Amino acid sequence: MKKILAIIGARPQFIKHAPLEKELKKEFEIFSIHTGQHYDNEMSNVFFNELGINRPLYNLEVGSHSHGIQTGKMMIELEEIILKEKPDAVLVYGDTNSTLAGALVAAKMNVPVIHIEAGLRSFNKEMPEELNRIITDHISEILFVPTQKAVTNLENEGITKNVFLVGDVMCDILLWVVENVNFDTPENGFYYATIHRPYNTDNPDRLLSILTEFNKLGLKVVFSLHPRTRELLKKAGLKVNHFSNIEFIKPASYIENVKYLKQCSALLTDSGGMQKEAYILKKKCITLRSETEWEETLEGNWNSLVFNNLSEIGTKLKIIPDKHNSTIYGTGKASSEICNILCSLIK
Ligand code: UD1
Repeated sequence: MKKILAIIGARPQFIKHAPLEKELKKEFEIFSIHTGQHYDNEMSNVFFNELGINRPLYNLEVGSHSHGIQTGKMMIELEEIILKEKPDAVLVYGDTNSTLAGALVAAKMNVPVIHIEAGLRSFNKEMPEELNRIITDHISEILFVPTQKAVTNLENEGITKNVFLVGDVMCDILLWVVENVNFDTPENGFYYATIHRPYNTDNPDRLLSILTEFNKLGLKVVFSLHPRTRELLKKAGLKVNHFSNIEFIKPASYIENVKYLKQCSALLTDSGGMQKEAYILKKKCITLRSETEWEETLEGNWNSLVFNNLSEIGTKLKIIPDKHNSTIYGTGKASSEICNILCSLIK
């Protein structure tokens, strides 16, 4: 049996790995390395328990550092493990520092890199994720792409070999959970919010403006507090009880998160994955960014970008969305398709 080593380390990667690991273990020896980029119980452990993911074979426990130190520490450890384990391929997900570290080390050791969620672009190189994506795509040997737009992005950069449009693995798990978990969830008259991107959190004035705007909205805001945002609120001296219209909660588990999404009246976010999840669940989304990698969500006004003029949040929330394409991110079979393709390429 061929051996695939998956590199995971940040919250969305545990979610993406769950449906794919389930498929791959039927045909491959699949094991994972947790880089330790995310380490709090609710940012890591919770997902392994809830989604039934196998325990990683190694946990590098790298923790939080500047980009260079974090990526470098991961690379040093990963090189040793790849030398020892001799995998036939290394699998990386998305666009985090864990993705970049895994891809760089494997490619330099001539181990084929498989990139899941390849081809996405925000065209904003100030986002660390954009650099991680571009580099990872250019050194990957097999690229699994969620949307037609992503195929075009890769073509524009001259990447056409071994590019497979399979849909989105996050859609696989979302559809599975919606079908199999009994959600007793009528809409409940609140907005659900998650904000963690550095350009929204790291400048205290910006963070304060966002919270002030949320505090003025006509419905209560349930704000799931990413540790990055929690830290920055603390640093900026902003107390959660200053905002009477906002209920701050700790980061939700995957199933809790889907429940909040199903119950809310709309989502306020700067996350990539959640824009898609809101779209699939037919929830209006306001994205606090000036661009998105998931442009399909903008069609039919399901998603609206708001960045400089935060007072637009209220007006954009009132726009009623229309045309919806329920299969734009796939039909829940991306993982099995990826497994079939890998069987033909590396078995
Ligand atoms: C990372 C990814 C981002 C992804 C996000 C998902 C990069 C460059 N960014 O951003 O693409 O959308 O994960 O959540 O890889 N912290 C904790 N506990 C944890 C993890 C982090 O307290 O378990 C705090 C630390 O203060 C840390 C900060 O959060 O410095 C930022 O964590 P980091 O992993 O560097 O970036 P994220 O903002 O989580």
